[in-house]
Amino acid sequence: MKALITAGGHATRLRPITWTINKHLIPLANKPMIFNAIEKIAETGVKDIGININPGETEMQKVVGTGSRWGVSITYIEQVGGPKGLAHILKIAQSFLGDEDFIFYLGDNIILGSITQFVNKFKQEKPNGLLALSKVRDPQRFGVPEIRDGKIIRVDEKPQNPKSDFAVTGIYIYDHNIFHAVDAIKPSARGEYEISDAHTWLIENGYNIGHQEITGWWKDTGKPEDLLEGNQLLLAEMTREQAINEGECDPEVIINGRVKIGRGTVVRGRTLIRGPVTIGENCIIESSYIGPYTAIGSNAIIRNTEIEHSIIFDQVTVSCSKRIVDGLIGRGATIISAADSLPAGHRMVIGDNSTVEL
Ligand code: G1P
Repeated sequence: MKALITAGGHATRLRPITWTINKHLIPLANKPMIFNAIEKIAETGVKDIGININPGETEMQKVVGTGSRWGVSITYIEQVGGPKGLAHILKIAQSFLGDEDFIFYLGDNIILGSITQFVNKFKQEKPNGLLALSKVRDPQRFGVPEIRDGKIIRVDEKPQNPKSDFAVTGIYIYDHNIFHAVDAIKPSARGEYEISDAHTWLIENGYNIGHQEITGWWKDTGKPEDLLEGNQLLLAEMTREQAINEGECDPEVIINGRVKIGRGTVVRGRTLIRGPVTIGENCIIESSYIGPYTAIGSNAIIRNTEIEHSIIFDQVTVSCSKRIVDGLIGRGATIISAADSLPAGHRMVIGDNSTVEL
């Protein structure tokens, strides 16, 4: 079995962050998001993974590499011809996938737990496709299955009147017959070759499409609040063994719960860190409160600030005597106090599509 992970697209709903970083490389609990997908696939024993990227992408290759650190081999596949939908991505990857069964994994889907059971079900029952479903409150945002007598009879992409309260998540397993569907379907009203249309085509043409519910936590990370939730869940999963403190902490610093601190990081002054929290390497944390579900990258400086439930990227400086919650603060950003500046007031240089709540 092989696997294909999607890591292209433009992630407009995550701007300005995604002006300068591929969404799939955004750190969650201080790890690029796509590592989660690679880890889940590697756990199943699959060794050959394709990653779909935008033409001209170079950062992904630098960060992810050859796959050797997970014991897998990674092939990068450029999505030539522009973003034309998930079924189009399969078409482009067809020569890499060949006739083998494969896992198709949308790189912005974050799950807790393992997908091994799902893979085993496919191997035992040998359907032509197996879809992972998750119960959601807003099925209109997803591919939605219509289920009759325990079988999926069609899948609608982002329907106004969903026929069930399940989403088809972005984790699928197929045999080579998916390519018949990919070749047969026409672009949808939004101009994309929809994966949901490929599923409906297979069912209508007599192929066997099975399903399994994901009962653990699943999220597709389209919006900033989804990233914060993903970060929270991955931090909650951090074990005591992983919460290693390799930094230097002054005696007056108080650390509660699971807190991971990287090498070269110095924590000083009247500081309280309440886990789960992860802090990267070579940071300075001084006279601050770092609250639960906060991930701070490397080379950051946090002074006289309270931060909770936030993602702070590398090289950020925050020193402002304020309390920051639910923050997503991009690489190299600076947030400082205006107390000594004249005239008094909030002074800012904000990139396109930024959001600031004062
Ligand atoms: C895509 C699929 C949709 C699926 C979703 C899961 O939607 O088209 O069927 O339910 O991923 O993440 P998108 O997130 O690209 O809008």
